[in-house]
Amino acid sequence: MTAHTLRNAPNLDPYFMPFTANRQFKAAPRLIAGAEGMHYITVDGRRIVDGSAGLWCVNAGHGRQTIADAVARQLTTLDYAPSFQMGHPLAFEFAERLAELAPPELDRVFFTNSGSESVDTALKIALAYHRARGEGTRTRLIGRERGYHGVGFGGITVGGIVGNRRVFPQLAGADHLRHTHDLARNAFTRGQPEHGAELADDLERLVALHGAETIAAVIVEPMAGSTGVLISPKGYLERLRAICDKHGILLIFDEVITGFGRLGTPFASQFFGVKPDLFTTAKGITNGSVPMGAVFASRAIYDGIMKGPENLIEFAHGYTYSGHPVACAAGLATLDIYAAEGLLTRAAEMAPYWEEALHSLRGLPHVIDIRNIGLVGAVELESRPGAPGTRAYDVMVDCFGRDTLIRVTGDIIAMSPPLIVERSHIDTIVASVADALKRIA
Ligand SMILES: Cc1ncc(COP(=O)(O)O)c(C=O)c1O
Repeated sequence: MTAHTLRNAPNLDPYFMPFTANRQFKAAPRLIAGAEGMHYITVDGRRIVDGSAGLWCVNAGHGRQTIADAVARQLTTLDYAPSFQMGHPLAFEFAERLAELAPPELDRVFFTNSGSESVDTALKIALAYHRARGEGTRTRLIGRERGYHGVGFGGITVGGIVGNRRVFPQLAGADHLRHTHDLARNAFTRGQPEHGAELADDLERLVALHGAETIAAVIVEPMAGSTGVLISPKGYLERLRAICDKHGILLIFDEVITGFGRLGTPFASQFFGVKPDLFTTAKGITNGSVPMGAVFASRAIYDGIMKGPENLIEFAHGYTYSGHPVACAAGLATLDIYAAEGLLTRAAEMAPYWEEALHSLRGLPHVIDIRNIGLVGAVELESRPGAPGTRAYDVMVDCFGRDTLIRVTGDIIAMSPPLIVERSHIDTIVASVADALKRIA
């Protein structure tokens, strides 16, 4: 206990925190010291219901013993092996197991260490593919307003959140589709919104503007999480797929959040019935336990790149830790849990209860929208005049103080509990938000 107490009263100054208002946080820190199942445990011993699966990643819940055992075993069996020009069996086995979960023919797996790396890798695979087949003019990358694709220069180029872009230069030649968020037509939708499929036609507009032969790929999140849970309208992804096919443009789904069961299928492409050419994953791939990501590419893309003299590296890209043995061990143990407990489809079972519970918040102060899909939900609040984001932040702090963790982005509350969530946890999460909404002006 003493050691715990000491470690839990750290000097807050040296740590330059990511995506955090450092000074605000350090003035009133929220420190987590442990985790177990559906709960975090704070440094002062409070049990907090995890309403956000960490950062959308702890899909099987916290502290899973079999993952811990697999990691410990792997560290003393093979702690590291070079990833370039060498291999180790676990990486091949993990790629095979992942491929079995993917849509047919989308089964060539490139390992990374994060969602951001997965995004940049997918964009580079798209460029390399066009180049290998003699269409090297296709260099333009198309993203979408309000998209979040991590923080690499590729990711912020196709991303559409102004705060992540305004300070940094981006790659030349990118463009963006409009976002699909439309409260005037779609407020309080359950599941996919009715309106907005026609927004996919923006791609035709960009083709007319730039020329299809300059466009390599379009990247979208099938359900945009970090920007505040924007769900693809009915027919939108189908239309985007058709336009990409018409013009030889690759379609990339960023499934860093939706991958591994969040919507009730292993991947969102299966939920929506639309197949991309490439998709990115990370987060739930190891249940958040060890950093890892993976890009899934179609066989056509993989085969298209496997060209030229066989002694030459076909794709000049990779990371020291691509397919890290410890991450692969954690990932394999994670997939075993997902399979044994049916977690990759459990969101579909829980979704109706989740939906009802969330929509019970309608009518509470400042609530201007509630939306949900799978085990994801959002409550959008009216912003305080001149102080956007402060109201939802206050709700988050209030909930944390009363033992529920939620996430906020701007004035949107986002919720995405671990896929092991039970009805009682859902009741607790929703009650905490309801109470906070009544208290926060
Ligand atoms: C859709 C999407 N892409 C990429 C990323 C970046 O992942 P990471 O933070 O692991 O780099 C995220 C993170 O939330 C994400 O939601």
